[in-house]
Amino acid sequence: MSVLFVCLGNICRSPMAHGVMLQRAAARGRALHVDSAGTISTHAGERPDPRTLDVLARHGVPLDHRSRRVRDDDFANFDLILAMDHSNRTDLLARCPAEHAHKVRLVLEPIGGGIVKDPYYGGPSGFDLAYEQLTRACDAWLDTL
Ligand code: 4NP
Repeated sequence: MSVLFVCLGNICRSPMAHGVMLQRAAARGRALHVDSAGTISTHAGERPDPRTLDVLARHGVPLDHRSRRVRDDDFANFDLILAMDHSNRTDLLARCPAEHAHKVRLVLEPIGGGIVKDPYYGGPSGFDLAYEQLTRACDAWLDTL
């Protein structure tokens, strides 16, 4: 089973989800391949935003990741492709072969829907909110996988 988390830049939300999911899957003894990517390449090769690393560090979640853009082969290679918001999902579906479109879902779907709002231009509370949403969502996905 494999999961790809996707946001815009792959420096704030999706790497946060990536670290959280890796840790929570491991805690359940689940072998899960996890990665994250962005729909744009602006930050390709960069480490996650310091505010994402700060939230993860405060919660004891390790993460070693460099930003990358979504690749065409991701749609075939991953079982589940989880977008943070509607814009990410629309951008993914515009590139996704029809046979894989069912894999593209909103990350908060199993906890009642909604979006993980882009925290990039806001204050630190946006990152704390994203962490809280993503921990609940990752646990809910793990219950279903
Ligand atoms: P992310 O946040 O999509 O959660 O990684 C953003 C990162 C970079 C930009 C926007 C959002 N940006 O405009 O460069």
